[in-house]
Amino acid sequence: MVSYKDLGLVNTRAMFAAAVKGGYAIPAFNFNTMEQMQAIVMAAVETKSPVIMQVSKGARNYANATILRYMAQGAVEYAKELGCAHPEIVLHLDHGDSFELCKDCIDMGFSSVMIDGSSLPYEENIALTKKVVEYAHKYDVTVEAELGVLAGVEDEVASEVSHYTKPEEVIDFATRTGCDSLAISIGTSHGAYKFKPEQCTRDPKTGKLVPPPLAFDVLHEIEKKLPGFPIVLHGSSSVPQDEVDTINAYGGKLPDAVGIPEEQLREASKSAVCKINIDSDSRLAMTAAIRKYLAENPSHFDPRQYLKPARENMKKMYIHKIVEVLGSDNKLLQK
Ligand code: G3H
Ligand code: 13P
Ligand code: ZN
Repeated sequence: MVSYKDLGLVNTRAMFAAAVKGGYAIPAFNFNTMEQMQAIVMAAVETKSPVIMQVSKGARNYANATILRYMAQGAVEYAKELGCAHPEIVLHLDHGDSFELCKDCIDMGFSSVMIDGSSLPYEENIALTKKVVEYAHKYDVTVEAELGVLAGVEDEVASEVSHYTKPEEVIDFATRTGCDSLAISIGTSHGAYKFKPEQCTRDPKTGKLVPPPLAFDVLHEIEKKLPGFPIVLHGSSSVPQDEVDTINAYGGKLPDAVGIPEEQLREASKSAVCKINIDSDSRLAMTAAIRKYLAENPSHFDPRQYLKPARENMKKMYIHKIVEVLGSDNKLLQK
């Protein structure tokens, strides 16, 4: 059993309370590679932002769970080396799908876990979430739960239609499970294709898709039911069109990729939404930079040559999200 506290990590409790009160959101960036980890830490240190580094089941399969945990421990030391005296870094399990997976992460030093029972019948979601909460809280690890199903593919949880979270269920769910935060469904979804073209309109000038707005009415109803309770938005990449254009210009094929407009995420950050999940934008930033670099330098083959601009591009994107969208810059609790 390793306590995250011995690794210099923190749980989400204090940072969420401050974010809800202060009207900003904490970035939750997924990482699978060293370059993503470095870019996240550099961005968080430069902007003096708390940050959640999250690991999916897929990331554990790709990179190895132990390596990722040591990378997060390394991230704390790296942040200090970059000049941040008291880094506020959470190591979070993204979309945990079983008690055993959550327990494994808690036992190896994660400071926060998500148990995603959103595909289960309501009572089963409650029972599973409660079991994880009871175990996690023994070690002061915080737990994110999910109610409502996001459209598209949610790890192994598939759903054809978007089922918004039902506001009338949230009080019962939060009370009976004891979860620390709640991921809700208000129209976001995972990946770079969040909406089908027929769900969008088209900007006559650029020809780009304009997605339908998020269901802010549902969010506000939930906020009224659970005043001050931390709300999480998954599937919140905005799919920057300049990155999509770069990818397509250098041999990629991402027609009609579309995300959540940043103005809507900015608006959500001012509400009880205090954690915003971004993964696809990092993938796009990395892929765009690598495609461009390799096309322009066909004789290069040292991965350091193309991973360096990829890391720079991700760092730029993370800083942009922190400062221009979520507003978590200069929000470290301990200066
Ligand atoms: O929720 C989805 C995240 O973007 C993680 O994706 O399962 O492919 O690592 P992944
Ligand atoms: P995106 O695919 O929009 O980046 O969402 C990531 C996410 O929700 C991770 O849990
Ligand atoms: Zn997610």
